[in-house]
Amino acid sequence: MRLSRFTHLTLWFHWYARQSHLRHRIEDQLAVREALVDLDRTRPGVGDRLTGALREAIAGRRIPPGTRLPSSRDLAVDLGVSRGLVVSAYEQLVAEGRLTSRRGSGTVVAASAEVAAPGHTPPAPTAAGVAPLRPGVPDLGMFPRAAWRRAYERALSTALDSDLDYTDPAGVPRLRAELAGYLGRVRAARVDPAAIVVTTGAAQALSLLGRVLAARGMHEVGVEDPGSSGIRDHLLAHGLRLRPVPVDERGLVTSALGEVRAVFVTPAHQFPVGVVLAPDRRAELIAWARRTGGLVIEDDYDAEFRYDREPVGCLQGLAPDVVALVGSASKALAPGLRRGWLAPPPGWLAAVRQAKCDADMGGSALEQLAFAELLASGGYDRHLRRARRAQRTRRDALVGALRRRLPQVRVSGIAAGLHLVVELPAGVDDRALAVRAREAGLGPLALSDLRLGASGPPGLVLGYAAQSPDELAAAVATLAGLL
Ligand SMILES: Cc1ncc(COP(=O)(O)O)c(C=O)c1O
Repeated sequence: MRLSRFTHLTLWFHWYARQSHLRHRIEDQLAVREALVDLDRTRPGVGDRLTGALREAIAGRRIPPGTRLPSSRDLAVDLGVSRGLVVSAYEQLVAEGRLTSRRGSGTVVAASAEVAAPGHTPPAPTAAGVAPLRPGVPDLGMFPRAAWRRAYERALSTALDSDLDYTDPAGVPRLRAELAGYLGRVRAARVDPAAIVVTTGAAQALSLLGRVLAARGMHEVGVEDPGSSGIRDHLLAHGLRLRPVPVDERGLVTSALGEVRAVFVTPAHQFPVGVVLAPDRRAELIAWARRTGGLVIEDDYDAEFRYDREPVGCLQGLAPDVVALVGSASKALAPGLRRGWLAPPPGWLAAVRQAKCDADMGGSALEQLAFAELLASGGYDRHLRRARRAQRTRRDALVGALRRRLPQVRVSGIAAGLHLVVELPAGVDDRALAVRAREAGLGPLALSDLRLGASGPPGLVLGYAAQSPDELAAAVATLAGLL
């Protein structure tokens, strides 16, 4: 049979399309396999490593947008892992918006997963919008969306009708019980569920305490110097007077407390310098509070992140009668959740509860129940383990880049947390440098901006949790250029 010219063309076109389609599929599969070539399958935690490797390859465009991933069955066979591991890695990345999955067309890298290629200078903010080196922000791209969705769905489907009524302003009992268990287990706190007030972040905890302090006429509050300017603002908003108390390499200098009636302190990891409050200073602080009737406000803001040192228990566990424990999920999960808690001493509880009731009658019951689910299911612990591993790698990358590019600066406060401090050569204007860094798209803080009266060398506070090692190296290169 003779074929018409048109039929010829059609057959050729189909043949060509199939070949080029196949070629693209082969290129796609090669890109994925190359990205996973170093995946260690011999140690536990393969699932997390697989998700992390795919996430990094997508962010660095080694697996570009539009790439079709192998089927979970093929990839599992190829890697010699169970199919369930691949399915849950894909699900997590779909939940993060990095992959799309449609019946019939497989799993494809989302167009919106595009992130600046590593090594570009100046480094642009990441897809999550966090300026490189900005302290205090976790990797928002690592937020455990799939676990949170499951927790929220479970909270919604198991909530009683009565759970949707006005709640106890101190928080839903289920969450307060979970938090009491968690704080006892992880932070050696001594808290009764009934003594916890769930807040919208450490910010609200400070605000509630500030209000009660002002109402009790306790207007003079000691604050660490250097210390968090945001925290100072929450106290100032209630008309309190702040008295700077110096910080040295053993933490808050307790002998300099003077006449204050309350003191704000970050004993596990001083913000910003990163030191731990020494045992004798802890004892002195507690003795001071018991002697004077003062209040110790303990901000345990990033206590979950320890890399090279043993975790230090919270101060509240030693003296629940005088310490108000403030905690937050802002560093562990995301600041946008606005999830925090406060465990005040017994003599402060009723007034704090009333202040919370006046402020907002308690937060959203469903959000609190979802957070309780996340804690109860172990999802919060699992996420912390993942985040800790990623942050340690990033911390090492930042320290390494600083040593290579800026050997003249002293690096400190690296054992814990989400940030470190670099001490700059005398005479450098750290404020001006931070402004220029911001103009270049970076987000470091100047140490001088965190000091009230204390003198000390110029320095920068650099965050490392929210960027990949490549992005951190590029940011340090930019910073070195500015210096
Ligand atoms: C010292 C300190 N405590 C607590 C927090 C967390 O505040 P919140 O829980 O209101 O987000 C921060 C955030 O930057 C901080 O710097």
